[in-house]
Amino acid sequence: MNMANELQRDDVPKKGDSSLHGKVALVTGAGGSIGRAIALALGHEGAQTVLTDIDEPSLQETAAAVRANGAEARTLPLDVRSEAQWRDCMAAIREDWAQLHILVNNAGVCAPTRLMDLTYESWRWHLDVELDGKFLGCKYAIPLMVDSGGGSIVNIGSISGRVPVSGLAAYATGKAGVTALTRAIAADCAAAGFKIRANSILPGGTRSAIWIKMAHGGMLPEGGDPDGEALLTRQTKLFERTNPSRRPGYPEDIAKAVVFLASDQSSYINATELVVDGGSSGIRAFASISDLAK
Ligand SMILES: NC(=O)c1ccc[n+]([C@@H]2O[C@H](COP(=O)([O-])OP(=O)(O)OC[C@H]3O[C@@H](n4cnc5c(N)ncnc54)[C@H](O)[C@@H]3O)[C@@H](O)[C@H]2O)c1
Repeated sequence: MNMANELQRDDVPKKGDSSLHGKVALVTGAGGSIGRAIALALGHEGAQTVLTDIDEPSLQETAAAVRANGAEARTLPLDVRSEAQWRDCMAAIREDWAQLHILVNNAGVCAPTRLMDLTYESWRWHLDVELDGKFLGCKYAIPLMVDSGGGSIVNIGSISGRVPVSGLAAYATGKAGVTALTRAIAADCAAAGFKIRANSILPGGTRSAIWIKMAHGGMLPEGGDPDGEALLTRQTKLFERTNPSRRPGYPEDIAKAVVFLASDQSSYINATELVVDGGSSGIRAFASISDLAK
């Protein structure tokens, strides 16, 4: 067998395969910290971006930043819990762009509450955004992705779906469901013969607005929060002490992983999870056998 010829196969990643030129990408929660970094990174690689969120002012800020970087950005209002809005969104993309290759289901909410105090309303809110949102997104995007020749679905889960801390029953359950849902979607696409891959990314603690929202029951208080920066600084210091990479994650760390999974560089990666947490869930930081002997 000529191994050299084997390596010339068309589906082996080649130089330039990380380019997203000619691709149309939809991002949910694009007004948030990680969503904005994802939108910028996809645009930087040449994708035309369709940006959605329920937070209209933040969404417009993201779109302006993407355009300022020379990429194309169109905004659409989208509450990921609404089936009607997903239908409208896909109809609008079909009309204006006629194609969709990348779907990044990034929107998420987190209001830490111990189970004993967790209301049914809050439980439902988390699961509606995490699970219904991603189910609906995939369901309505897949037909257009098929008509576009295939593509890549990237769902943003969380390491909390594997290793939760106290107060995250609803959030962690939703995120655990995201990994199962993502694999199930990959299975259905493969069985149907669609050229669509589906993977999830599991971020660890990533410095973002969600940290400030968590301190306020999952939502920013009206008029912003003067203590937000202090909270982010405290959290950052904690990660500098405890994370193996000696820092928190940054939205750009997650965005790079999204670009990888969206591009042909990852053409043989399907139905799996990419953990982006600086190593914190993979090793017991700073503990070694020799430390234990001391
Ligand atoms: N920051 C972290 O430490 C961390 C860790 C693991 C996973 N994540 C996940 O990363 C994703 C992005 O989080 P982030 O840190 O950027 O938080 P963020 O709060 O900055 O962004 C979340 C965005 O989702 C939007 N959103 C909320 N509900 C929505 C709905 N019903 N429909 C549409 N949009 C909605 C918000 O308006 C916001 O813009 C989330 O799925 C989150 O769970 C974050």
